[in-house]
This record gives sequence, structure tokens and C-alpha cells, in this order.
Amino acid sequence: MATAQIYPSLLAADFARIADAARSVEGRADWLHVDVMDYHFVPNLAFSGDTVTALRQITDTPLDCHLMIENPDRWAPGFAERGAANVTIHAEAVDDLPRTTDAIRAAGARTGLAVKPATPIEHYADDLRRFDLLLLMTIEPGFGGQTFMDSVLPKIEAARRLLDARGLDLWLQIDGGVNAETIERAAAAGVDVFVAGTAVYGAADPAAAVEALRAQALR
Ligand code: DX5
Ligand code: ZN
Repeated sequence: MATAQIYPSLLAADFARIADAARSVEGRADWLHVDVMDYHFVPNLAFSGDTVTALRQITDTPLDCHLMIENPDRWAPGFAERGAANVTIHAEAVDDLPRTTDAIRAAGARTGLAVKPATPIEHYADDLRRFDLLLLMTIEPGFGGQTFMDSVLPKIEAARRLLDARGLDLWLQIDGGVNAETIERAAAAGVDVFVAGTAVYGAADPAAAVEALRAQALR
């Protein structure tokens, strides 16, 4: 694997110091991961479009929005309009996939497709060409600090084979339970973009943690 991108997840940051958390990894993190939750798609509530607007004022690091919400068809383009560099929607929630990806792109962002651990990717194989990124969740979405699900590793390997076989230039991202130990297995399975919350913001030095994770992934 030639590259390993690390996206710190602000869900694991001190919510009273979000700007400090964003700045603490500036120049080290490739992008910042912003989790959006609505108490419906997942049993938790997190960042909103206003968060994206506010973050864009204080950092130049590109923002990767992970929408864990119902009806992403309606809300996703707004995140692109507010300056997100990528907007990822969940396969389990989207109704009109082409219309939604077109609207996100028209608003100026890249777009990603996310699947929960139990959702097979084969069903979406023909839709992948519409996306820039495929996110395979390695936990049940909703909360940080959970244990990496090794049971997803075969799906990661299958996704890497599928992308390569079809000549699709998507980034393969995982989210959940990424740490210095699990990142090696995921990198070996073909992941090139790693979201990490607790492993970055639970560390005394978040910037150093980003570099340590990247080094582990490239071993
Ligand atoms: C959870 C979120 C993740 C979360 C990951 O649904 O999508 O981005 O922050 O947290 P860690 O890295 O602690 O598992
Ligand atoms: Zn996430």
C-alpha cells in the first residue's frame, strides 16, 4: 500500500474544544471526519450543517462528512453547499441514489457510499461508479470507542478485489475501532483511508497519534 490517509473523527474530541481539536491535527491529518447523526438512523445525535460552516471558518483541512441520518436525499447536498469536501451517505438510508449523488456533486463535493457491517456490497456494485469513496463500517454506527469488528475483514478484501477488478478509482475507507493494532490488519486487507476517533483524540498528543497510525498502516 503506497498511501495511508488518516482522518481524525471529531466525535471523539472534547465538544467544548472542537476548534482546538481541529487545529491540533492541522498539517498532519489528511482530512477531518465529521459525524452527522439524527437520533433516527442511529440512536445518537451529533454534528450538523452549522458545525461544517463553523469548522470551515477555523481550518483549511478538508471536511469528510459521514451522514448517519434518515432521508440523506434531502439533507446531503446542504453539507456540500456548506463546504464539505466529501459527503458520505448510507446505502441503508438513501432512496434515489443517482439523484442524491448528482446533487452532492453539483454542490461541489465528492461523495461516498457507506455500508453497515451486515450490509453486503455486492448489491451496490453497479452503483459504485457514482462514488469517490466506499466506507465499510467496522463497528455498528452510532458511537465511538467500540471494538473493531474483525468479521468485516473479508468484506474489505472483497471490496478491494471488486474495485480493482472493475478499475474503479474509489478510496476504500473504514470507520470504527481503528487503532495502532487494528490498522495493520485493515491496511493489509486493502484499506487506504482510515477514520480514527478515540485513537487520535484519546491520545495525549493527537498529531503524534496521527503519524503513529500512518506509520503502522504503512508497515
Ligand atoms: C461512529 C462514527 C465514528 C466514530 C469512530 O458511528 O462513525 O466516526 O467516531 O470512533 P472510534 O475511532 O473511537 O471507533
Ligand atoms: Zn464516522
